[in-house]
Amino acid sequence: MDAVGVDIGGTKIAVGVVDPAGRILAKVRRPTQPKDPASIDAAIADAIAELSRTYNIKAVGVAAAGFASSDRNHMTFAPNIAWRDYPLGDNIRALIGKDDVTVVVENDANAAGWAEFAHGAGKGTNTMVMLTIGTGLGAAIVVNGELVRGAYGFAAELGHICLVPGGLPCGCGQRGCWEQYASGSALTREARRAAADRTVRAARLLEKAGGDPAAIKGPHVTQAAVEGDELAIELLRDLGTAIGEGCASIAAVLDPEVFVIGGGVIAAGDLMLGPAREAFAKHLTASGHRPLSPILAADMANDAGIVGAAALAREAVPLEF
Ligand code: BGC
Ligand code: NA
Ligand code: ZN
Repeated sequence: MDAVGVDIGGTKIAVGVVDPAGRILAKVRRPTQPKDPASIDAAIADAIAELSRTYNIKAVGVAAAGFASSDRNHMTFAPNIAWRDYPLGDNIRALIGKDDVTVVVENDANAAGWAEFAHGAGKGTNTMVMLTIGTGLGAAIVVNGELVRGAYGFAAELGHICLVPGGLPCGCGQRGCWEQYASGSALTREARRAAADRTVRAARLLEKAGGDPAAIKGPHVTQAAVEGDELAIELLRDLGTAIGEGCASIAAVLDPEVFVIGGGVIAAGDLMLGPAREAFAKHLTASGHRPLSPILAADMANDAGIVGAAALAREAVPLEF
């Protein structure tokens, strides 16, 4: 019995066959159009059809960037993709056209967090919070070895905790969400703004983006920072600080053993994690009188969503008698 994990990102879908030990046996990719949910369904089904020629797929876990309802079938809402009460699971099931395949829809960060907990940086812990820094700020909460899903499926939407009352508008409809200050989108927004305003300091960033402020992407900032560029280092420090400040509030609720941070910006290493740890220690309640939960880099890079979604789907397959 093979299980497949699907990771739906802002620009591409990655689909992988995953073994019970969390190893990816095969992986294919398709481009996506976040404004067109039907094309996402079709691309997923197409990738699964390709993998089905070689593998006996019985479980499909779909990791999706948004509010996955507790029926593990609907995407109720997504701030950055056009899903509204969308029967993603049913659609994929219909397109696959096989009754004996279990399909479950999971929040992308919950899937990634589950993989990090089972096989990655959170392995061996009991209570863990994972944050994924991408287009949005995603999160997974594991308490006593179990994923916290909430009553309706929408727990761990930590990106939408209010960090700045009345602050920047968010795709979720509220203002001042943590995601607006601590995400890949926040990083590129600030980098582009700095490049547009202060061209001398931004020379290296601009050069990396071919001279066009609007073309600056996260990896340009990371590369420039690793090379010692001051502006890029400052941008990553601000991002890390926003992460650490939020983690202090999360610790007041959950007191996790560790925080695990994932997403492409992790390539910046301590340039981002250092300021996150500092801000965490500074803002943590009772700081100095309690253990400081380590803030660790994720282990599984871009594969965590696929691996976690496949594992969650495998667990959902009914037992054969
Ligand atoms: C969404 C989450 C998602 C995260 C990362 C947020 O904007 O609300 O559901 O996990 O982005 O993709
Ligand atoms: Na989540
Ligand atoms: Zn929000």
